[in-house]
Amino acid sequence: MCGIVGHIGAGDSVDKVLEGLKRLEYRGYDSAGICFKNSAGDLSLFKKTGKLANLINLLNNQDHHSSSSVGHTRWATHGAVNDMNSHPHLYKNLAIVHNGIIENAEELRKGLTARGFKFTSDTDSEVFLGLLSFELEEGRDLLAATSNAFKKLKGSSAFVIQSSDSDGIVTIKRGAPLVCGINENLGEAMVSSDPYALIGFVEKIFFPDDDVMCFLSKGSINFYDLDGSPSTRYLAKDLETNFEISTKGQFEHYMLKEIYEQPVLIRKLSDIYLEGIDLELERPKRVHLVGCGTAFYAGMVVGQMLEKLLKIPVSLEFASEFRYKDPLLLPGDLAIFISQSGETADTLAAQKLCKDKGIKTISIVNVEGSTLFREVDQNFLIHAGQEIGVASTKAFTQQVLTGRIICEAFAGTKDFKSLKQKFSLLSHRIEELLNQAELFKEMAQKIYNFQGFFFTGRGPYYPVALEGALKLKEIAYVHAEGYAAGELKHGPIALIDEKMVNIAIVGPELFDKTVSNIQEIKARKGIIIGIGPDVADLRNICDLFIPLTFEGLEELSPLYVNVANQLLSYHIAKQKGTDIDRPRNLAKSVTVE
Ligand code: AGP
Repeated sequence: MCGIVGHIGAGDSVDKVLEGLKRLEYRGYDSAGICFKNSAGDLSLFKKTGKLANLINLLNNQDHHSSSSVGHTRWATHGAVNDMNSHPHLYKNLAIVHNGIIENAEELRKGLTARGFKFTSDTDSEVFLGLLSFELEEGRDLLAATSNAFKKLKGSSAFVIQSSDSDGIVTIKRGAPLVCGINENLGEAMVSSDPYALIGFVEKIFFPDDDVMCFLSKGSINFYDLDGSPSTRYLAKDLETNFEISTKGQFEHYMLKEIYEQPVLIRKLSDIYLEGIDLELERPKRVHLVGCGTAFYAGMVVGQMLEKLLKIPVSLEFASEFRYKDPLLLPGDLAIFISQSGETADTLAAQKLCKDKGIKTISIVNVEGSTLFREVDQNFLIHAGQEIGVASTKAFTQQVLTGRIICEAFAGTKDFKSLKQKFSLLSHRIEELLNQAELFKEMAQKIYNFQGFFFTGRGPYYPVALEGALKLKEIAYVHAEGYAAGELKHGPIALIDEKMVNIAIVGPELFDKTVSNIQEIKARKGIIIGIGPDVADLRNICDLFIPLTFEGLEELSPLYVNVANQLLSYHIAKQKGTDIDRPRNLAKSVTVE
């Protein structure tokens, strides 16, 4: 997902936009650029592939005092990673930055080329610039030109537009995130694809709906529908002042910091939801649990809880599959969407499908004010705080626990005492695990060079096996596969030999069955890393072993095991020297299909 930051007002506009872009670095990107109105009133453009530092170096010897600037970090979708495809795109007195995909770009590009527009990049984004420039040449003002050009686009997009002829900045979006903010006292206004970039600069933030144009000028924002009439289709919020800027503190990586935050966050969630607030949810006939990646695996754990604890039928769906399969949605169904960012394109599209069919939708989401947060009927915030590491860790834990809380809401529980005790015990067990960092570091040193990993587990540990494999793939760039332990003998066991490592998760449930699966692997010389109860029958058949104490955790045990996998993956990646917080090719929030 690309990062957008725009600012208008004070003379240090460029510095504020660069600070905003720094805060968005965690989302992953491959180039960065900025355009600002210079002292002559013209637009100056600087952009460069690579890290933001490359852009800052370009600016070092330039006078970049300005009161209007627009910046961008690009995560390439259309067009190679190179300087010319970086944003902003400039044409005469117009500059734009874009987040999203223009699905009919090729068709529009042909028409624009035929009209004499000279493209300088291979991007779809530049098509919008061409449409805009022709609208202006036909005498329309910037808002009307923006509206006409935007109506011609298909797909999800957010744009910020800057013109040397205008004293403001214009924004427009559909299906992609955009948030604006103002500081009336300082006479400043800002826009970004992520509220995190606005913290400390603005006091009030606004989330415009799709197809609403915002005109930002010094200290104010006006909202317009595409027909040019004033719009009230936006959500206004005071920015949470306690939204502190996350720093790594004493940790080497954000991901490690976020792994270590989990015990405190578990207790925070318990305080928020389990202190007797009146949680009541109408019991559905069936639940559709929908998400992507880690959020989907969290849904798998929640789904098992709903079926086992409440006997509610559950269907689990990858959002990218659900949105195209014409799902069977029946009266009385409930759709639960799980998403850390609340901006994942597939998840948003799946939610819209359910909403359009009259199905009640609720979210398990981290970002308040995100698109998902604003679109569903009811939200359950996971209160994980800003998750900077692209590889999701604390969000998974909070998503599952929030799902467990929703189970109580369906059950109409009034006394949360026993669940509070489990939350507290889980927090304590994870703290104990986090204090054994050396064990994981030493283990990682022994196995990080292996080329193939299986994560196996049964029942509630099967989703954790999938999530553990995803973590290792994401941050260590090694092939890892999560598998149901009982399924290995139906084919994948052909892969087992002395070069293959098996992270074997063994819970107290189905202990003997799972141990026999390990024996099958051991008989074929597979390397066994056992994670489970500290008993001789298990410890003695493992090459390396992580002892866990499951007593009392019950349905929360998968979260305890998952932290072991997080630590193991982290230390393996550390041994390999990969970019753990910003792994190659990945974006923190996949806002495109
Ligand atoms: C998880 O480590 C990945 N970053 C990715 O699978 C992520 O969980 C997925 O893209 C869903 O993101 P969301 O929770 O923001 O919707």
